[in-house]
Amino acid sequence: MTEFTEVVRNRRMTRAFAPEPLDHGQLDRLVDLAGRAPSAGKSQGWHLVALEGDETARYWDVALPRERRATFRWSHLLDAPVVLLAFADPHAYVERYAQDDKSSTGLGAGVEAWPAPYWTIDASMAVMTLLLAAEDEGLGALLFAVFRSEEEIRASLGVPERMVTIGAVALGRPHPEPAGRGRSASRPRRTPAEIVHRGGW
Ligand SMILES: Cc1cc2nc3c(=O)[nH]c(=O)nc-3n(C[C@H](O)[C@H](O)[C@H](O)COP(=O)(O)O)c2cc1C
Repeated sequence: MTEFTEVVRNRRMTRAFAPEPLDHGQLDRLVDLAGRAPSAGKSQGWHLVALEGDETARYWDVALPRERRATFRWSHLLDAPVVLLAFADPHAYVERYAQDDKSSTGLGAGVEAWPAPYWTIDASMAVMTLLLAAEDEGLGALLFAVFRSEEEIRASLGVPERMVTIGAVALGRPHPEPAGRGRSASRPRRTPAEIVHRGGW
């Protein structure tokens, strides 16, 4: 098995973290790799708000207020030393596709001209690369939805209005006692035969 295969096969969402900070430069290394993900017209219209150490409370105090924590299943999730909030910028794509080499596509006219939200696709691929980079460094990561209080969190962190929220990533060393698996984890993995429609649907 190649290292790549091992990284892909071993990556699992981590929901319990040790509180130790990441090594110096480690976050930048992960983001540098994630930034190598493909992006339409090399627009690279994705951003991360990084909350580190005590700053992570700025996320959790809004998303999971203290009075709700006693019944929260993943208590060591809140120990993650880093919480990243990922955003995609649709306007970076509109601007890029209004440039001379792309203007014939018509996609520079506005967000409505786009048949698919490439900003979301690209940001998702970058986040996936970051999850794999974390696994490669022996870190754990959980991508999770910013379900509750999204507006409040965005406002408190000064996120510009036009940004589309992709999700949050908790990042750090896995806790020595792993949390149980997520409720969805026992679902069977689809086989290639179920996924591929050979020669047409
Ligand atoms: C877009 C997206 C949103 C997710 N949201 C959550 C979430 O809110 N909470 C959570 O515990 N896991 C969340 N997950 C993790 C999935 O449950 C997990 O990827 C899936 O069960 C497969 O498990 P694995 O990634 O460990 O192989 C999310 C995953 C994705 C891709």
